[in-house]
This record gives sequence, structure tokens and C-alpha cells, in this order.
Amino acid sequence: MNVLLTGGAGYIGSHIAVELAEAGFDIIIVDNYSNASKEVIHRIEELAGKRVFAYEVDVCDKAALSEVFRKHDIDAVIHCAGFKAVGESVQKPLMYYRNNLGSTVTLLETMEEFGVNRIIFSSSATVYGVPKALPYTEDMETGPCTNPYGSTKLMSEQIITDAAAARPEMSAVLLRYFNPVGAHPSGRIGEMPSGVPNNLMPYIAQVAVGRLESLGVFGDDYPTKDGTGVRDYIHVVDLAKGHVAALKYSLEQSGVDVFNLGSGQGSSVLDLVRAFERANGLKIPYRILPRREGDLPAYWADADKAERVLGWKVERTLEDMCRDTWNWQKNNPNGYDE
Ligand code: UD1
Repeated sequence: MNVLLTGGAGYIGSHIAVELAEAGFDIIIVDNYSNASKEVIHRIEELAGKRVFAYEVDVCDKAALSEVFRKHDIDAVIHCAGFKAVGESVQKPLMYYRNNLGSTVTLLETMEEFGVNRIIFSSSATVYGVPKALPYTEDMETGPCTNPYGSTKLMSEQIITDAAAARPEMSAVLLRYFNPVGAHPSGRIGEMPSGVPNNLMPYIAQVAVGRLESLGVFGDDYPTKDGTGVRDYIHVVDLAKGHVAALKYSLEQSGVDVFNLGSGQGSSVLDLVRAFERANGLKIPYRILPRREGDLPAYWADADKAERVLGWKVERTLEDMCRDTWNWQKNNPNGYDE
């Protein structure tokens, strides 16, 4: 069965590719490499033990995308391509709307033209906006989002939902990711943010490797157990396996369904620092800084629906996430540029 994976050279997409291959699917990757390295494709092939098709194609480019659909008989699409930096989306909102919404619309149009009916979409817990209650459940009211990146995820969910309503043969699964971290246990693929990382785990990893001096903890006066921000961290391999489960589910149903992909557990910034120290026998120096603008105090997933309906739940612990992050970071101090 042929699965088209958009953004398949990215951090999450590359892990999905490996899990799909392991589950016996054939993969066709499209990626414009705007935030990814071509070397990733070789590493995916090495881990998958087989060739994958990969095309340098921007999902907004209808003609180029159609060419890929013409070449391959595609059965389902997993749509991960998109810009994802929260701060950048505040600075360049139109770039985010054009890219993230344009790609979703172009992809859906192309799927319709070629009679492809199944789509799994990379959404985010950010669609819940400011918490109305905790944990987040899928039937909870969404939005308004706190930044344009989040709005593009929520709007893409709406676009896909409307497209599916107009085509009853369609099956769409919206996956709301919590905080994906970690790397493949082989240390061959992982996350390599360009410049100074914005997100917590890559920052810790760069402190560990000596590239950054110390971690700044954004606030210790939140109403949480130790005053630092609480999130639901999920190992990227568990997240990738969630896509395989969602894909299998989409083959058996039509309509739209939505699932949280999280662990169901909240962990604080200091929990993550301590887990990293414990898992890797290292010290992570940190200092307390003021709160980061726009951050929420705490949120985590209700992960029951995914377990009940998809038969999927996380299997990896916070220590696993920290060990695998460090294994990736220390073996690839310069990312994919060897
Ligand atoms: C953000 C995005 C989310 C995206 C995720 C990627 C929003 C509102 N958030 O989540 O959509 O999926 O990134 O994983 O859209 N922290 C520090 N020091 C640092 C960095 C972070 O203390 O140097 C703290 C933050 O205050 C927060 C926690 O660590 O409490 C996690 O932050 P981060 O990794 O940036 O993710 P989020 O902001 O939760």
C-alpha cells in the first residue's frame, strides 16, 4: 500500500516514515527541504532497510504535486508538511497562512482529482487555545489560538473537515500532538533546530553537549507543583506509531475523526531537567528567568480515546525520551551536516 508522506524529511515525518516502513507500507515522501536535510532520506532508508521514493516538491506547487500523484498509485496521505515556529508565525503571519493553508488546500484538491480519499493530518494541541478544563479532551471547544501557527492548524482542521463533508467517500483523521520530543533509539534521525532552539528538549540537549551554557527556565511562579510550566511530552517514536494506528483505522472508516496523541501525563520543566540528568548521568545547569510571553501554565492530554478507538498508547517514558535525545545529540553534534 502506497502512502504519500508530506514533510517526510522533517523531524516528525522522518520518524513516521521509519514506522510506516516497519509496518509494511511503501512510502513516497514529498518535502521542499526548507527545514530539513536531504541526508535524512538516506538515514530513513538505512533504518527502514528499503528504498523510499523522495521528491523535492513544495506541497503548494500543484503541478509538481500532481506529477507525483501521476507517477504513484497513492492509497493514503499523511500530511506533515508545514511551518511550525510559534514566534516566527507572529512575525510573519501571512507567510504562515499562505504556506500552511495553501499546502492543505492544494493537497486536498490534488487528492480529489486523483480519487485519493484518505488523509491523516498533523495537528497540534495548540488548537485548544487557552485551557477551558484539564486534561484536554477531543470534544472540547477549540480556539481561539494564541498565535498564527496555531490558527493555521485549527483552520486546516476545518478545511479538511469541510472537504470530507462534501465527499462522503473520504476518511480524515486529525491528530493533535502534544509535545513531541526524543529521537529514534538508533541515534540516526532526530530533531535539529536551526539556530538557538526555542523548545525545551533541544535546548537541554545543546546545554548537555556544551554548545549552550545553561538552560533558562521561563518562570517558576506558575500555579503548578514546582512553579514551572507543565506539558505532556511524548516520545516521537510513540507519536509515529500513533500515525500507523490512525492510518489503519482510516482504511476501515469514512468521515472525520480526531485524536489527541499524548501520554496523558503532565511533566514540569524541572521534571524534564531531572529526568535528563538521571537518564544520562549529566548535570544540566539552569537559571530561572521571567515567564515567556504567550506561554500557558499547564496542559496535558486525555489520551483515552486513542487507546479505546485506535488501540494505541504511549510506551516510552520521560527517561527514554531523554536518553534517546542525548544519544542523537552526542552522535550528531552538527545534525545531518557530517
Ligand atoms: C510549543 C508550541 C506547540 C508546539 C511545541 C513543539 C504553542 C502555544 N506552543 O509548545 O504548538 O507543538 O512547541 O513541541 O503553540 N521552556 C523553558 N525554557 C526554554 C524553552 C521552554 O523553560 O528554553 C518551557 C516553556 O516555558 C514551557 C515548556 O518549557 O513551559 C515547553 O516549552 P516548548 O518546548 O517551547 O513547547 P510549548 O511552548 O509547550
